[in-house]
Amino acid sequence: MFHAPNVPRVRKRLRPAEAVVPRREGVKFEDVRLYLVERKMGRSRRNFLTQLARSKGFIVEDVLSDEVTHVVSEESQASSLWKWLKECALKNLPSVHVLDISWFTESMREGRPVAVETRHLVQDTLLTLPEGSTPTPVATVSQYACQRRTTTENNNKIFTDAFEVLAENYEFNEIEGPCQAFRRAASVLKSLPWAVRCLGATQDLPCLGEHTKAVMEEILQHGRSFEVERILSDERYQTLKLFTSVFGVGPKTAEKWYRRGLRSFSDILADRSIHLNRMQQSGFLHYEDISRAVSKAEARSLRNIIDEVVHAITPAAILALTGGFRRGKEFGHDVDFIVTTPELGREETLLPDIIDELKKQGILLYCEYQASTFDIAKLPSCRFEAMDHYAKCFLILRLEGSQVEGGLHRAEGDSRGWRAVRVDLVSPPVDRYAFALLGWTGSRQFERDLRRFAQVKRRMLLDNHALYDKTKKEFLAATTEKDIFAHLGLEYIEPWQRNA
Ligand code: UTP
Ligand code: MN
Repeated sequence: MFHAPNVPRVRKRLRPAEAVVPRREGVKFEDVRLYLVERKMGRSRRNFLTQLARSKGFIVEDVLSDEVTHVVSEESQASSLWKWLKECALKNLPSVHVLDISWFTESMREGRPVAVETRHLVQDTLLTLPEGSTPTPVATVSQYACQRRTTTENNNKIFTDAFEVLAENYEFNEIEGPCQAFRRAASVLKSLPWAVRCLGATQDLPCLGEHTKAVMEEILQHGRSFEVERILSDERYQTLKLFTSVFGVGPKTAEKWYRRGLRSFSDILADRSIHLNRMQQSGFLHYEDISRAVSKAEARSLRNIIDEVVHAITPAAILALTGGFRRGKEFGHDVDFIVTTPELGREETLLPDIIDELKKQGILLYCEYQASTFDIAKLPSCRFEAMDHYAKCFLILRLEGSQVEGGLHRAEGDSRGWRAVRVDLVSPPVDRYAFALLGWTGSRQFERDLRRFAQVKRRMLLDNHALYDKTKKEFLAATTEKDIFAHLGLEYIEPWQRNA
């Protein structure tokens, strides 16, 4: 049995200031009551950690009682910890979080109780399973990308590249089902920390259908897929791929041009009957530059430039890098930022002010500004694949090589000292920040599955603006991404683990 470290009564009376710890003063987290297990931790370390937690606003109980919500232990033997816990005969033991020290350490670092994840739990190995039941396998892969951790390291690129071609081809032909199926399959394979070397290894994986497995088998046997090769050499696929690589040209326009018999950029530019909109004109003008990937160093340099501009306009501004670069990608097709200010409403003039300043600096090569159409009264939106309603601008900026550490990511033989780069800025009201950040961090597949998970598993609607609980008929507030994951009952997935 554990007993609280005894404080001699005499001392308590004589030196109250030292002996009586002001336990409820400065409490920040009323719902969380910690208990640190002294076994293995030792008394002095336990005292130290107790003081630390209390100084950060946590309640730490000296005695293990039914009040306690989180038990933290450094015991390495789960079975002996659980044996001891059961001997304590707590009524609420089944609802107590029994955690290893990693949860405590992370919570101290964050200055608040972090969401409990399975990796923090000290599992009860003494748990007796009901007769006839089998223990659930530990490492099942979820069909939802938001329940998987996917870094930029892809161990199955030979398969996922092939799936991407197939998915894109279905997209060009407007066949939604198989297109999504191949995207989901690619996403599952990307999440694996191992390479698939035989078809048998995919047995327990979700989202892999007959067609996907047939393609994988071909690749495993012959090193390539004949179906994919056929598509890659198909004139229609090649042309649509080429046309949609131009900024401002979507599948619809590409298809229209293809039907007219156009096959190359010179065909398009020579055709007098074709009217290019402003975006497409800049797309062609800067094609060489903006079709080449943007490097991390270039993204960092742009961040500095935008940062300076934004903070000159309003010192309190909040700027965050989002999109692929926030997920830790080395290269991207553009650089995405969220900008806002703590002052609600002030964000409305923010983008126009930024655009003015970029123009003044002579680095604005193209700008399409879309004013906000956000109206809180129109939420929730059931069309959750739709674009969001925040003010945003799609830019092409001139980036000087001298401002990029290690120089520009340039084509060989290009001796100019600058390049054009695509930049997107989006400006949500600050109370929508967490939703906008989550939505714009991506990946697209991760977002799609977050929304699908919310809808199917939780009867909730999630988009870039809000989270709505259809059962409770209310919006769920969030100031951080972690709040949103917590509302959805999902383990928090770091941005660099969202490369689904
Ligand atoms: P991007 O198309 O920029 O993708 O959209 P990315 O992940 O950064 O990859 P690359 O490297 O640029 O190609 C970033 C995220 O922003 C969301 C997309 O869903 C994606 O997850 N987004 C984009 C929106 O939510 N709304 C938009 O209007 C545009
Ligand atoms: Mn991007």
